Formats: sequence, C-alpha cells, structure tokens
Amino acid sequence: MTLIRLEGGTKGFNDRTLFQGADFELGEGERVGLVGRNGCGKSSLLKILAGVEPPDEGTVTVKKGHRVGYLEQDPQLDPSVRIREVVRSGLEGREETLAGIATVHEKMATGADGKELEKLLARLDRLERELETRGGHDVEHRIEGTLHALDIQDPDAEARHLSCLLYTSPSPRD
Ligand SMILES: Nc1ncnc2c1ncn2[C@@H]1O[C@H](COP(=O)(O)OP(=O)(O)OP(=O)(O)O)[C@@H](O)[C@H]1O
Ligand SMILES: [Mg+2]
Repeated sequence: MTLIRLEGGTKGFNDRTLFQGADFELGEGERVGLVGRNGCGKSSLLKILAGVEPPDEGTVTVKKGHRVGYLEQDPQLDPSVRIREVVRSGLEGREETLAGIATVHEKMATGADGKELEKLLARLDRLERELETRGGHDVEHRIEGTLHALDIQDPDAEARHLSCLLYTSPSPRD
C-alpha cells in the first residue's frame, strides 16, 4: 500500500537541475535512508515529498487520511519556548479535529436519524482517523513518551538547549 508517491519530479535552482523526472514510492512500514553528497538535493527532495515546497514539475500524492511530518535539517526554533511545547507543536491541527468531533457528537445528541445519522457517523469515522495522525486522544501520554524516547532530562528547559540534539547531516567540513 503506497503512502507517498512522487511521479516525474524535477527540481532545480537558478541554472542547476538537482533531479529530473524522479519517481519515488514509500510503502506502509518502509523506511528509507537518503544518501548523497552535500548539496546534491536530498533536503530538496524531502521537502517536496512532505509538501513543504512544490516541485518544478511532477506530482506528489499522499494516501488519503494521512499527513506527512517534516523535521527540518536546521530547525529554526524560538529559543525561549519550552522543549515540551516544541514537541507539542508537531501535533498542529489537532484542536480543529477535536472541535469537529465535538460538533458531530452535539448533532448526534439532538436525535439525528436515518440518512443524517449515517452522514454524521461517516464524518465521525473520518475525524477519528484524522485525530490518530495528530496524536490521538491521549496526546499527553504520547508527548511524554516522545520526550522519554529522546532522553530529554528536563522537558521544561528552553529550546535553546536543543541545538546539538537535532543536528543531522554531517558535511566534509565538520
Ligand atoms: N531555496 C533555495 N534557493 C536557492 N538554492 C537552493 C535553495 N535550497 C537549496 N538550494 C541549493 O540546492 C542545492 C541542494 O540543496 P539541498 O539542501 O537539497 O542539498 P542536500 O543534499 O540536502 O545537502 P546537505 O547534505 O548539505 O544537507 C544546494 O546547492 C543548495 O544551495
Ligand atoms: Mg540536506
């Protein structure tokens, strides 16, 4: 089952083409490591797959009901924000989904039936699946689990202390 598909992806800056007509597919449960020289276009490709930047040509398709997260190579974090809040910010859009679920529940409580009830149940099903991609109901538990997995000793410290933790791509000059 394909989660992300790129067809005919082309990207370049100024007169330099980074890749042309590139096809890519990511299936359920697959993990991909992207290896290449500094500046060859790895981040550019990932930004396109995540929908952060558009390709010059080609199309990206993401499986319905799924959302692609993207962690920047050099995150621009507000240094005064608490680490716990940085983790929480990865769950953006959650509040709207929760509000949508509450609205459906309210409408169901007013005694909807027949076709109307069927529609509401279908909407509820879609919103519940969307919520799962945004941290689920038990989001505090997920946040604590993530902080623990990253071995963050003091989640209430300011994000300025994260500078080394999020370093990703070594370059020859380092
Ligand atoms: N917004 C931009 N405007 C102009 N040029 C850009 C832009 N983004 C990337 N580039 C250029 O495109 C090329 C590929 O950049 P990219 O960041 O995708 O490479 P990379 O493979 O991720 O490199 P690294 O290994 O250093 O992380 C580089 O030459 C870079 O300078
Ligand atoms: Mg990069």
